[in-house]
Amino acid sequence: MERSKSVRLSSAPEKDFLPLYGTDYIEFYVGNAKQAAHYYITAFGFQGIAYAGPETGIRDRASYVLRQNKLTFVFTASLRPGTPIAQHVDKHGDGVKAIALIVDDAADAWKETTSRGALSYREPETVSDESGELGISGIHLYGDTVHLFIDRKRYAGLFMPGFRKWDPGFESSSTGLLYVDHCVGNVGWNQMNRWVSFYENVMGFKNILTFDDEDISTEYSALMSKVMSNGNGYVKFPINEPAEGKKKSQVEEYLEFYEGEGVQHVALASDNIVKTVTELMQRGVEFLRVPDVYYEGLEERVGKLEEKMQQLKNLGVLVDRDPEGYLLQIFSKPVQDRPTVFFEIIQRKGAKSFGKGNFKALFEAIEKEQEKRGNL
Ligand code: FE2
Repeated sequence: MERSKSVRLSSAPEKDFLPLYGTDYIEFYVGNAKQAAHYYITAFGFQGIAYAGPETGIRDRASYVLRQNKLTFVFTASLRPGTPIAQHVDKHGDGVKAIALIVDDAADAWKETTSRGALSYREPETVSDESGELGISGIHLYGDTVHLFIDRKRYAGLFMPGFRKWDPGFESSSTGLLYVDHCVGNVGWNQMNRWVSFYENVMGFKNILTFDDEDISTEYSALMSKVMSNGNGYVKFPINEPAEGKKKSQVEEYLEFYEGEGVQHVALASDNIVKTVTELMQRGVEFLRVPDVYYEGLEERVGKLEEKMQQLKNLGVLVDRDPEGYLLQIFSKPVQDRPTVFFEIIQRKGAKSFGKGNFKALFEAIEKEQEKRGNL
């Protein structure tokens, strides 16, 4: 009896207790949401979608919702000192507050995760207006970062109740950014495995890749990383922790300037990285630059590419290959004064990995920037 029971259990398909259908939006807490929104519209090619603030009956904050294809960013600033938003910005500078995930049922997602040990950030609530009903709940993540669970199946409005349509009054063409490919967190010394367990036990994710300090160390900068993915692979969260190096690693620099753990970078997908990055650069987005020697013998290292080598070199786009194909990627400089949050632009041509072959060249480029800031 016991034996047949255990056979049945192990052969039964694992039920995903937290089905996720992608990233609904990413909310940034910033010092000046009006100007941040302008930057992401003009430089990154987003469209203004919705707004909430004093004019909509919200007294303590202003929020701007921007969209580009399946990407939604929200920029929120406090209108008064001492609010949780103002305190967040005072401590961390501009940064990611919430990674909102698409679920079937926000109350279920909250129950499944809090019953497995997640700390509640927002109890399940149904909010409604003339466009329908939207379910929302949330749990705490590393640092002051949170996950929100959003169920918008019964909601037809632009964003969510409490927001009104917003037209910034000028046009900006898309740069071809499509959706969130992955979102990376930096956590403190010896905290990586704690957050790996959190994603495994609380959210039902799996560790699909691990990089140790052997993979990711240059002369100075060392870090360890584990990539966590949900069951259908729509949502991937790599987690970094610093490792001992000769000097201060990039993760340590982040932890110092962010005053703790938080989102390090958001990777945005494009299906034409050459076009996207050309546009972004023309509009003033700054990218890290690897030395030209990176492109010597690149095709011998990664195989034949559909893109023109000279174009990739001109832009500084990096290439890596895994058994399933190749990927193209490039990393922005930090997008605020503190050396904290930045963006990755990524185009996947079959590859499901994260550019391990580029770590060394990339980290040397990051160290050059750290040195300029006096933080190495
Ligand atoms: Fe990345």
